[in-house]
Amino acid sequence: MIISIVNQKGGVGKTTLAVNLAGMIQAAGKKLLLVDTDPQGSLVQWRSVNPKSLVRVSHYPKPLSQRQARSLEKKADCIIIDSPPALEKTTVANVQISRLVIVPVSPSPLDIWAANDTVDLIRKIMIRTKGITARLLVYRKIPGTRIGAEAREALKAYSFKVYKTEITQKIAAVEAMISGQTLTEFSPNSKSAAEFKALADEILSDLI
Ligand SMILES: Nc1ncnc2c1ncn2[C@@H]1O[C@H](COP(=O)(O)OP(=O)(O)O)[C@@H](O)[C@H]1O
Ligand SMILES: [Mg+2]
Repeated sequence: MIISIVNQKGGVGKTTLAVNLAGMIQAAGKKLLLVDTDPQGSLVQWRSVNPKSLVRVSHYPKPLSQRQARSLEKKADCIIIDSPPALEKTTVANVQISRLVIVPVSPSPLDIWAANDTVDLIRKIMIRTKGITARLLVYRKIPGTRIGAEAREALKAYSFKVYKTEITQKIAAVEAMISGQTLTEFSPNSKSAAEFKALADEILSDLI
Protein backbone atom coordinates (compact mmCIF):
# COMPACT_ATOMS: atom_id res chain seq x y z
CA MET A 1 0.00 0.00 0.00
CA ILE A 2 1.34 3.42 -0.97
CA ILE A 3 0.51 6.52 1.07
CA SER A 4 1.75 9.87 -0.17
CA ILE A 5 1.95 13.16 1.69
CA VAL A 6 1.19 16.05 -0.62
CA ASN A 7 0.93 19.82 -0.34
CA GLN A 8 2.40 22.29 -2.77
CA LYS A 9 3.36 24.64 0.05
CA GLY A 10 6.72 24.21 1.76
CA GLY A 11 6.94 24.19 5.54
CA VAL A 12 3.51 22.70 6.21
CA GLY A 13 5.00 19.60 7.83
CA LYS A 14 5.03 16.98 5.04
CA THR A 15 8.43 15.56 5.92
CA THR A 16 7.83 15.50 9.69
CA LEU A 17 4.46 13.86 9.12
CA ALA A 18 5.96 11.24 6.77
CA VAL A 19 8.65 10.35 9.34
CA ASN A 20 6.33 10.04 12.32
CA LEU A 21 3.61 8.19 10.52
CA ALA A 22 6.30 5.80 9.33
CA GLY A 23 7.53 5.35 12.90
CA MET A 24 4.05 4.51 14.16
CA ILE A 25 3.17 2.17 11.31
CA GLN A 26 6.51 0.35 11.68
CA ALA A 27 5.91 0.08 15.44
CA ALA A 28 2.54 -1.52 14.65
CA GLY A 29 4.50 -4.38 13.07
CA LYS A 30 4.25 -3.49 9.39
CA LYS A 31 7.22 -3.68 7.05
CA LEU A 32 7.78 -0.09 6.09
CA LEU A 33 9.69 2.00 3.56
CA LEU A 34 9.95 5.78 3.44
CA VAL A 35 10.42 7.24 -0.03
CA ASP A 36 11.83 10.71 -0.53
CA THR A 37 10.78 12.27 -3.85
CA ASP A 38 11.85 15.78 -2.86
CA PRO A 39 14.96 16.76 -4.85
CA GLN A 40 16.08 18.56 -1.67
CA GLY A 41 16.36 15.16 -0.01
CA SER A 42 15.14 16.16 3.47
CA LEU A 43 14.36 12.56 4.43
CA VAL A 44 17.76 11.44 3.24
CA GLN A 45 19.34 14.16 5.38
CA TRP A 46 17.24 13.13 8.38
CA ARG A 47 18.36 9.52 7.90
CA SER A 48 22.04 10.51 7.61
CA VAL A 49 21.95 11.92 11.17
CA ASN A 50 21.18 8.45 12.52
CA PRO A 51 22.40 5.86 10.01
CA LYS A 52 21.79 2.95 12.43
CA SER A 53 18.04 3.62 12.41
CA LEU A 54 15.77 0.74 11.47
CA VAL A 55 13.55 3.02 9.38
CA ARG A 56 14.45 2.51 5.73
CA VAL A 57 14.62 5.50 3.35
CA SER A 58 14.96 5.45 -0.45
CA HIS A 59 15.48 8.53 -2.60
CA TYR A 60 13.70 8.93 -5.95
CA PRO A 61 14.23 12.52 -7.10
CA LYS A 62 12.54 11.80 -10.47
CA PRO A 63 8.80 11.08 -10.97
CA LEU A 64 7.95 7.47 -10.08
CA SER A 65 6.46 5.30 -12.82
CA GLN A 66 3.67 2.76 -12.25
CA ARG A 67 6.29 0.06 -12.79
CA GLN A 68 8.58 1.48 -10.11
CA ALA A 69 5.58 1.77 -7.81
CA ARG A 70 4.72 -1.91 -8.27
CA SER A 71 8.28 -2.92 -7.51
CA LEU A 72 8.35 -0.65 -4.43
CA GLU A 73 5.19 -2.37 -3.19
CA LYS A 74 7.04 -5.69 -3.19
CA LYS A 75 9.60 -4.26 -0.76
CA ALA A 76 7.23 -3.34 2.07
CA ASP A 77 3.67 -3.59 3.41
CA CYS A 78 3.45 0.17 3.57
CA ILE A 79 5.31 2.79 1.58
CA ILE A 80 5.11 6.40 2.71
CA ILE A 81 6.12 8.95 0.10
CA ASP A 82 7.21 12.48 0.96
CA SER A 83 6.58 14.98 -1.85
CA PRO A 84 8.35 18.15 -2.94
CA PRO A 85 6.78 21.57 -2.29
CA ALA A 86 5.45 22.00 -5.83
CA LEU A 87 2.69 20.66 -8.03
CA GLU A 88 4.94 19.29 -10.73
CA LYS A 89 5.41 15.90 -12.36
CA THR A 90 6.79 14.27 -9.25
CA THR A 91 3.76 15.19 -7.16
CA VAL A 92 1.35 14.14 -9.94
CA ALA A 93 3.11 10.78 -10.16
CA ASN A 94 2.94 10.35 -6.38
CA VAL A 95 -0.82 10.88 -6.38
CA GLN A 96 -1.32 8.54 -9.35
CA ILE A 97 0.44 5.61 -7.69
CA SER A 98 -1.11 6.06 -4.23
CA ARG A 99 -3.87 4.23 -2.43
CA LEU A 100 -4.09 7.16 -0.02
CA VAL A 101 -3.09 10.81 -0.37
CA ILE A 102 -2.87 12.90 2.79
CA VAL A 103 -2.84 16.70 2.57
CA PRO A 104 -1.60 18.28 5.81
CA VAL A 105 -2.96 21.81 6.24
CA SER A 106 -2.01 24.29 8.94
CA PRO A 107 -5.07 25.86 10.52
CA SER A 108 -4.52 29.38 9.22
CA PRO A 109 -6.64 31.02 6.53
CA LEU A 110 -3.63 31.59 4.28
CA ASP A 111 -2.65 27.94 4.43
CA ILE A 112 -6.22 26.77 3.91
CA TRP A 113 -6.54 28.95 0.79
CA ALA A 114 -3.13 27.81 -0.41
CA ALA A 115 -4.32 24.19 -0.23
CA ASN A 116 -6.89 24.90 -2.97
CA ASP A 117 -4.57 24.16 -5.88
CA THR A 118 -3.33 20.97 -4.24
CA VAL A 119 -6.88 19.73 -3.65
CA ASP A 120 -7.86 20.63 -7.24
CA LEU A 121 -4.94 18.74 -8.69
CA ILE A 122 -5.67 15.63 -6.63
CA ARG A 123 -9.35 15.77 -7.56
CA LYS A 124 -8.49 15.95 -11.29
CA ILE A 125 -6.17 12.96 -11.01
CA MET A 126 -8.82 11.01 -9.07
CA ILE A 127 -11.27 11.40 -11.97
CA ARG A 128 -8.80 9.71 -14.32
CA THR A 129 -7.29 7.17 -11.94
CA LYS A 130 -9.57 4.98 -9.83
CA GLY A 131 -8.80 3.62 -6.38
CA ILE A 132 -7.26 6.72 -4.82
CA THR A 133 -8.55 8.03 -1.48
CA ALA A 134 -7.70 11.59 -0.39
CA ARG A 135 -7.89 13.01 3.12
CA LEU A 136 -7.14 16.34 4.78
CA LEU A 137 -5.31 16.63 8.08
CA VAL A 138 -5.30 19.58 10.47
CA TYR A 139 -1.59 19.84 11.13
CA ARG A 140 0.47 22.09 13.46
CA LYS A 141 -2.50 23.34 15.37
CA ILE A 142 -1.45 25.52 18.30
CA PRO A 143 -2.56 23.71 21.48
CA GLY A 144 -5.37 25.36 23.40
CA THR A 145 -6.65 27.46 20.50
CA ARG A 146 -10.00 27.29 18.79
CA ILE A 147 -8.41 27.73 15.40
CA GLY A 148 -8.45 23.97 14.82
CA ALA A 149 -12.25 23.86 15.01
CA GLU A 150 -12.56 26.87 12.72
CA ALA A 151 -10.10 25.37 10.26
CA ARG A 152 -12.12 22.17 10.24
CA GLU A 153 -15.20 24.20 9.24
CA ALA A 154 -13.27 26.01 6.50
CA LEU A 155 -11.81 22.75 5.20
CA LYS A 156 -15.35 21.43 4.61
CA ALA A 157 -15.33 23.54 1.45
CA TYR A 158 -12.97 20.95 -0.02
CA SER A 159 -14.63 17.68 -0.88
CA PHE A 160 -12.21 15.42 1.01
CA LYS A 161 -12.88 14.08 4.49
CA VAL A 162 -10.86 15.59 7.33
CA TYR A 163 -9.29 13.20 9.84
CA LYS A 164 -10.71 13.46 13.36
CA THR A 165 -7.19 13.39 14.78
CA GLU A 166 -5.39 16.72 14.74
CA ILE A 167 -1.64 17.15 15.11
CA THR A 168 -0.56 20.02 17.33
CA GLN A 169 2.60 22.05 17.32
CA LYS A 170 5.03 20.35 19.72
CA ILE A 171 8.72 20.82 20.36
CA ALA A 172 9.22 17.03 20.62
CA ALA A 173 8.29 16.69 16.93
CA VAL A 174 11.11 19.10 16.03
CA GLU A 175 13.63 17.57 18.42
CA ALA A 176 13.00 14.05 17.14
CA MET A 177 13.76 15.23 13.59
CA ILE A 178 16.98 16.92 14.74
CA SER A 179 18.14 13.67 16.34
CA GLY A 180 17.38 11.65 13.21
CA GLN A 181 14.69 9.66 15.00
CA THR A 182 10.96 9.13 14.84
CA LEU A 183 8.88 10.16 17.86
CA THR A 184 8.36 6.45 18.54
CA GLU A 185 12.11 6.22 19.18
CA PHE A 186 12.79 9.71 20.56
CA SER A 187 9.98 10.14 23.08
CA PRO A 188 7.39 7.38 22.89
CA ASN A 189 5.46 8.70 25.91
CA SER A 190 5.10 12.27 24.67
CA LYS A 191 1.80 13.91 23.79
CA SER A 192 3.10 14.36 20.26
CA ALA A 193 3.82 10.61 19.91
CA ALA A 194 0.28 9.89 21.17
CA GLU A 195 -1.16 12.16 18.48
CA PHE A 196 0.75 10.45 15.68
CA LYS A 197 -0.24 7.05 17.10
CA ALA A 198 -3.92 8.09 17.07
CA LEU A 199 -3.51 9.33 13.52
CA ALA A 200 -1.86 6.10 12.34
CA ASP A 201 -4.70 4.09 13.94
CA GLU A 202 -7.32 6.31 12.29
CA ILE A 203 -5.61 6.06 8.89
CA LEU A 204 -5.32 2.29 9.02
CA SER A 205 -8.88 1.68 10.22
CA ASP A 206 -10.25 4.18 7.69
CA LEU A 207 -8.60 2.25 4.84
CA ILE A 208 -10.12 -1.13 5.68
N1 LIG B 1 4.05 18.68 14.91
C1 LIG B 1 4.94 19.68 14.82
N2 LIG B 1 5.17 20.51 15.86
C2 LIG B 1 6.05 21.53 15.77
N3 LIG B 1 6.77 21.82 14.67
C3 LIG B 1 6.61 21.04 13.59
C4 LIG B 1 5.69 19.93 13.59
N4 LIG B 1 5.76 19.35 12.36
C5 LIG B 1 6.64 20.05 11.64
N5 LIG B 1 7.17 21.07 12.36
C6 LIG B 1 8.15 22.07 11.91
O1 LIG B 1 7.61 22.76 10.80
C7 LIG B 1 8.61 23.06 9.85
C8 LIG B 1 8.24 22.48 8.51
O2 LIG B 1 8.17 21.05 8.62
P1 LIG B 1 8.57 20.10 7.43
O3 LIG B 1 8.25 18.73 7.88
O4 LIG B 1 9.96 20.36 6.95
O5 LIG B 1 7.54 20.60 6.32
P2 LIG B 1 7.57 20.40 4.71
O6 LIG B 1 8.18 19.07 4.44
O7 LIG B 1 6.13 20.50 4.30
O8 LIG B 1 8.39 21.53 4.16
C9 LIG B 1 9.90 22.49 10.40
O9 LIG B 1 10.59 23.53 11.04
C10 LIG B 1 9.42 21.45 11.39
O10 LIG B 1 10.35 21.25 12.43
MG1 LIG C 1 9.75 18.49 3.20
